[in-house]
Amino acid sequence: MKDFLIETARLSIRNMRQSDFNELMKIFCDPKVMASFDSPPFSKEQMQSWLTRNLEHQEKYGYGLFSIILKSSETLIGDCGLEHMELRGEEAIELGYDFRSDYWNQGFATEAALAVRNYAFKVLNLPSLISLIRVGNEASKRVAEKIDMQLIEELSISGILYWKYGIHAKTDPHSQNSIKTR
Ligand SMILES: CC(C)(COP(=O)(O)OP(=O)(O)OC[C@H]1O[C@@H](n2cnc3c(N)ncnc32)[C@H](O)[C@@H]1OP(=O)(O)O)[C@@H](O)C(=O)NCCC(=O)NCCS
Repeated sequence: MKDFLIETARLSIRNMRQSDFNELMKIFCDPKVMASFDSPPFSKEQMQSWLTRNLEHQEKYGYGLFSIILKSSETLIGDCGLEHMELRGEEAIELGYDFRSDYWNQGFATEAALAVRNYAFKVLNLPSLISLIRVGNEASKRVAEKIDMQLIEELSISGILYWKYGIHAKTDPHSQNSIKTR
């Protein structure tokens, strides 16, 4: 499996590794990040089971949530990638992202999500992507809008309300843009 996959102006995007554990803890043990999921910070055990699940997904499908590396400092500042899921009995692929709060509002999630969206359509030939965003998560909603996803519906899953955003490969206005893979 190739390691480094995509390069953007400021970011390198690569497959996740077990050795990312400590850097991922800086995301998922941050109360500001976890407030978006209405969850307390992860314990080490919770972090490991999240990471194991993603590594297994990566092994099975050849992609998953990728590690996002800030090129200028070689720091892992977030995850962004793709996850297979079943939604109301139908297969879907979710585009998701989580970033360290000390790097928020500098356009990093948008830069990563745009690159991953283009990779999904142009390299993986996936037909469509969705994002499930908890109602009220304005920053995440804004990222989805900035990468041209459209609000499809509001839905309830296990009693939690989500905005379901989506985009189809053929309606992606940037689908002709070049993508710099490594
Ligand atoms: C969602 C998240 C990944 C965004 O990361 P980021 O790197 O800050 O995103 P960007 O800088 O690319 O864009 C954020 C946008 O949201 C806007 N924003 C941030 N907080 C906002 C708020 N409370 N209300 C409205 N807009 C907000 C920013 O102004 C920016 O929009 P702009 O470029 O039009 O000004 C980050 O906030 C995060 O990790 N949150 C916790 C985890 C999470 O919610 N993951 C998504 C689950 S669906």
